[in-house]
Amino acid sequence: MRDIAAYWQEGLPNIEGWVNERWLPYLKLVDDTQNALGVKGHIAEIGVYHGKLLIALAHFAGPGGKVTAIDVFDDQTRNIDGAGVGSLEHLKANIQSYGPDCNIEYSFLKTDSTALNCADKVSLVRDNGPFRLFSVDGCHTAEHTLSDLLTAQDCLAPGGVVLLDDMFQPHWPGVTEAVALFYGRYVPRLKPFLYIAHKLFFAGHGWHAEFLKACNEHAGPLPEAKMTQMFGHSVLSIFP
Ligand SMILES: C[S@@+](CC[C@H](N)C(=O)[O-])C[C@H]1O[C@@H](n2cnc3c(N)ncnc32)[C@H](O)[C@@H]1O
Repeated sequence: MRDIAAYWQEGLPNIEGWVNERWLPYLKLVDDTQNALGVKGHIAEIGVYHGKLLIALAHFAGPGGKVTAIDVFDDQTRNIDGAGVGSLEHLKANIQSYGPDCNIEYSFLKTDSTALNCADKVSLVRDNGPFRLFSVDGCHTAEHTLSDLLTAQDCLAPGGVVLLDDMFQPHWPGVTEAVALFYGRYVPRLKPFLYIAHKLFFAGHGWHAEFLKACNEHAGPLPEAKMTQMFGHSVLSIFP
């Protein structure tokens, strides 16, 4: 599949998973902003399921890019909240059918994401990263989500963006609790800048203003777009 627009039209409807169509313009905007700022890095996701979002993000990787999928996959004894039964076989088949045409290096890490220790993260950054787009969509308990957010933060390239799914999602309160713990227990190097359709986007302190400005200009005077404060940081919140 050639580009993200074609994937969105032809690939997305054929892959099971959880992707909201309203994310697309903002994913493209983040990619454009990173390119304009000269941000370099690779792509990763914790909680991949059949690759619906990962394959979308892979379209931003470009030739020679690296895309890393982290999931318990078929070891579902470790999927304690049962949100989607990951499958490496389905993921690989979907990449084959709907992945971008260019030469991309995929890595598949079958692990409980909370088992990644400091040495694992160092290896991950050295071999597969650092990452300019890191999606967190694994187990939704507060403990898992907090651990995954810290992993994403540790593995991020300068100018990288973390995408957290299920923020303010009533069925998964652990995600919102994790973000509260992230800001309550730690002094994070990330600030949220955009909230749309339960996805919260974060960037590093020195980069937050650029992404916020780009989103604000893109949204314009939409009645559903409101500048808010979350955990002391300015966030463009688009709702509903
Ligand atoms: C909601 S699904 C992910 C949806 C996916 N991002 C998409 O685009 O459709 C959650 C995924 O997290 C995985 N998962 C659950 N617990 C995990 C853990 N402890 N470590 C890594 N992956 C986990 C599941 O196997 C499942 O594939």
